[in-house]
Amino acid sequence: MDEHTDGGRAAVGPEAAGDPPLVGRDAELARVLRAADVPSPDPVLLLLGEPGTGKSALLERAVRRAPAAGTRVLRAEGSEPEKGLPFAALHQLLRPSAAEWDGLELAGERREVLRAVLAARSVAADGGVMAAGVAVLELLSALGGRRPLLVVVDDAQWCDRASLEVLSFVARRLAGEPVTMLFAARPADTLPVLGPRAAALTLGPLDAAASDRLLDLRPDRPVGRLRARILAQAAGNPLALTELAGTATADAAGAAGPLPLAAHLERIHAAPLGALPAAARRALLRLAALEPADSPAAPAAVLADAGDVVWAAAEQAGLVRRTGGGPRFGHPLLRSAVYHAAPFDARREAHLALAGLLGEEPDRRAWHLAAATALPDAAVSAELERT
Ligand SMILES: Nc1ncnc2c1ncn2[C@@H]1O[C@H](COP(=O)(O)OP(=O)(O)OP(=O)(O)O)[C@@H](O)[C@H]1O
Ligand SMILES: [Mg+2]
Repeated sequence: MDEHTDGGRAAVGPEAAGDPPLVGRDAELARVLRAADVPSPDPVLLLLGEPGTGKSALLERAVRRAPAAGTRVLRAEGSEPEKGLPFAALHQLLRPSAAEWDGLELAGERREVLRAVLAARSVAADGGVMAAGVAVLELLSALGGRRPLLVVVDDAQWCDRASLEVLSFVARRLAGEPVTMLFAARPADTLPVLGPRAAALTLGPLDAAASDRLLDLRPDRPVGRLRARILAQAAGNPLALTELAGTATADAAGAAGPLPLAAHLERIHAAPLGALPAAARRALLRLAALEPADSPAAPAAVLADAGDVVWAAAEQAGLVRRTGGGPRFGHPLLRSAVYHAAPFDARREAHLALAGLLGEEPDRRAWHLAAATALPDAAVSAELERT
C-alpha cells in the first residue's frame, strides 16, 4: 500500500514553537501524526524517500508531539557501521526500558531472551528471530499497557537484518495493541517487507511553490540567477535547496558546472568515488558536467560512451541510477560533489569530451569548449560569438 506524493501545496504544517518550518508537506505531516496516534487504525507506517527529502524531519515532528499526548517514544537509528551486527538496532531500542523489565508482567523466558539480546548472547544471535520477536512483542505490549508507546526507527536501510526481521514480526502483530511504529528508509529493495498492515508513504520532491517558499524563508534568501540555478539543481530536494542556498554565492552562479557545496558535504558525497575505477570516475564527471540546457539525449550519449561495466560499478556504489533516458545521479548534491571534487584538468577533459559528444548542437558544443578553459582563449570566444 504505497501512497505516493509529489510534495503537496506550499504551506506550513503545525509546528512546535522554534521549529524551522516544514514547507509543502502538510498532507505528509498529517499522515505521519495520524499514524503516530496510539491506538491507530494503521499502527505501522514506512516513510520512504531519497536522501534529504525530509523523512527524519517528519519523524522528529511526531516524536516531539508525543509527550503532549502522553505517549512514550522508543527509538532506534540504523547506522552503516553496525549494519552487519546482529540485533544492534534492537539493542538501541530496548536498552532504555531495561530497568523496568522486572516490574512488567513478562514470562521469565521472554525476559531471558530480551536480556540475551542486550548482552549480545548467542540465544538471540543464532537465528532466534522468532523467540526475539515474541519477546519484543510482549515487551512493547506490556510497556504500552502502562503508557501509549510510539516506536520510531530511522535510517532503517542501515539496520541489521536480524533487528529488521524481529521488528517486521512485531509490526505484523500490532493490531489492537497500544503501540504504533514509524519507520523511515531510503528506497531499497533489501528492506524486509513489513507486512500487509504496513502502509508506505513515499516522499517525492517538493513542488515549485514549496521550493520557492523554502528559499524565501532562509535568512540569506537567494535571488536572481543564483536562485534560479539553486532551484534547477536541487530539483525539489529540501536538503539540496538548504545546502546550496547556504553555500553558493552570486559569483558561483556565473561559473560553469553545478553550484559548489560546503567542503564537508563535498567530502561526504564524494567519498564513494575513491573506490571506483578511473573509467567510472571519468564517466561520472562527464555526467556531472552536463547542464540542464544540454539535449535531453545527452545523458544517454554519455551512457553509451562509457559502456555498461563502468556504469554498473557506479550504480553499485549507489551514485547513479540507470533510467530509460540515461544515467542519473541518485541525489542532486552528488552531482556537485563529483564535479567539484575533481581536479581542474579532469573537469576540463570532461567538458571537452562533452563538446565532442554534442557535436550536433553547436551552441552547446561551444558552451562546453568555453567551460573547458578558465579564461576562454580566442578560438573558443570566436566559436561562442558565431553560435
Ligand atoms: N519540507 C521541508 N521544509 C523545510 N525544510 C526541510 C523539509 N524537509 C526537509 N527539510 C530540511 O532538509 C534537511 C534534510 O532533511 P532530512 O534530514 O529530514 O532528510 P532525510 O530524508 O531524513 O535524509 P536521509 O535519507 O539522508 O536521512 C534537514 O535540514 C531538514 O530540516
Ligand atoms: Mg534521515
